Amino acid sequence: MDQYAVVGNPISHSKSPLIHAEFAKEMHQELTYSKIEAPLNGFTSRVREFFEQGGKGLNVTVPFKEEAWSLCQSLSDRGQLAGAVNTLYLNSDGQICGDNTDGVGLVNDLKQTGFSFAGKKILIIGAGGAVRGVIQPILNEMPTSLTITNRTKAKADSLAEVFSEHGLVVSEEMGCVNGPFDLVINGTSASLAGALPAISSDVFTPSTVVYDMMYAKEGTVFNRWAAQQGAAEIYDGLGMLVEQAAEAFYIWRRCRPNTQRVVKLLRDA
Ligand code: ATR
Repeated sequence: MDQYAVVGNPISHSKSPLIHAEFAKEMHQELTYSKIEAPLNGFTSRVREFFEQGGKGLNVTVPFKEEAWSLCQSLSDRGQLAGAVNTLYLNSDGQICGDNTDGVGLVNDLKQTGFSFAGKKILIIGAGGAVRGVIQPILNEMPTSLTITNRTKAKADSLAEVFSEHGLVVSEEMGCVNGPFDLVINGTSASLAGALPAISSDVFTPSTVVYDMMYAKEGTVFNRWAAQQGAAEIYDGLGMLVEQAAEAFYIWRRCRPNTQRVVKLLRDA
């Protein structure tokens, strides 16, 4: 049976095996999908071993996405630009290939809600690895502008420069972001520490769509704060998690599972 897995450290919390098992069941695909906890200094050798033993594909999660990027012998355009990959497979020459499905996961999740990026003014807060992976897929959707702001402004400046040839992308100081926006995305890891980025509530109007790339059962700190500021349409990153998995599943198996059913299953769990 074809073998797939997700590699990370730690990995016990990962929902990927459940998601892919649901996809496989629905699409009548014979496969196994397991979790691998690679040692922090042993990621590359663990990946090579997996493929040498006949493994078909890997998802990669924290903290190995950049290292996965470095070990790839071939990268998709979006993986190349993201500087990090979350999906690995072998091509017909046996080379390890990498792709990044996080950005398309976010875009597809928002599209499912009926949101259209074209002609919209978008703010993204944060400039770490997670944000870097979503910029090009968002710019591909032709928004009017994409503003990046970050606690450490220099990192936002550098992302804006890297992606400037792909669309109108600017960086602004967090204290003086020029709002309001049609879509505000929180791409920081602040929610993990129960913290809020120091952003003004002027970025919102009642019709602003708010999206936190993180998720939490009781809502992220950022989303709860946005609701208090009057934002009406608010989403967390659970849909993005399932959509990035669906894109990886498509890369490996060339068929597209129904994501909404699995999002509902995870929410109800
Ligand atoms: P990830 O892979 O989740 O993107 P990362 O590359 O470490 O992780 O990036 C974390 C992001 O969250 C950064 O943009 C970070 O801001 P800095 O670049 O200034 O460090 C942001 N972040 C983390 N905690 C934050 C907080 N309390 N307030 C604002 N931004 C925060």
